[in-house]
Amino acid sequence: MDKKYIIANWKMNGDRHLIQQYHDFFSQHTLNHHVVICPPFSFLEQIKHQNYHVGAQDCHFEKSGAYTGSISPTILKGLGTKYVILGHCERRSQYSETNELVYKKAAAALDADIIPIFCIGETLQAKENGQTAAFIEKQLQESIPKTQKKMIIAYEPVWAIGTGKVPTPEYIQNVHALIYKLYPKHPILYGGSVNKQNCQAILNIENVNGVLVGGASLDISFFETLMHMPKNNE
Ligand code: 13P
Repeated sequence: MDKKYIIANWKMNGDRHLIQQYHDFFSQHTLNHHVVICPPFSFLEQIKHQNYHVGAQDCHFEKSGAYTGSISPTILKGLGTKYVILGHCERRSQYSETNELVYKKAAAALDADIIPIFCIGETLQAKENGQTAAFIEKQLQESIPKTQKKMIIAYEPVWAIGTGKVPTPEYIQNVHALIYKLYPKHPILYGGSVNKQNCQAILNIENVNGVLVGGASLDISFFETLMHMPKNNE
């Protein structure tokens, strides 16, 4: 298996105890993957460790200003943050984030040399209407700036997030092939109910360059499972 991206999205979870578990585990083990941990903002400094990178779960599009409760890419950069998740479906549905806003945030993040992790994915309704491809293409075209800079795309079908429902391997492969056709240079990750049991099979699907893991990443034993996967060849 090639070297993959294993990105943990803690969402609004985690505490000192979990941070300690991560530090203990990663002090003893080096995974031959690109590991990125995205905790809530307040843990960004504490979670740091030499064996993985750190990412935020959102950012503002301005560098500074009167934006109560927000954080800018400049501040994130100052905290040593290398990545930022943008356009997560929970931001889109709970905070009405649009493709246009995601685009502005991405441009600001790239400007601050932070690598965006774009979340895209169809709703259940779009899937049931046979509109998955059109839905995803629109999100990609409207939210991703044209640039040669490094970016990551995470395919997260809305209906698979936190539901325990995972698309079939063929379904994932087809969507990843579609994304790859449009963005052949960017790593493409899958996210949505990834866990210890299904992770390896998902990572083996063509054009799946990694996983974006929510709930399962709150249990350090998820990473222990990764230790036991077949060795990587790079
Ligand atoms: P779950 O792994 O909990 O389904 O969440 C996926 C996700 O939203 C990652 O960004």
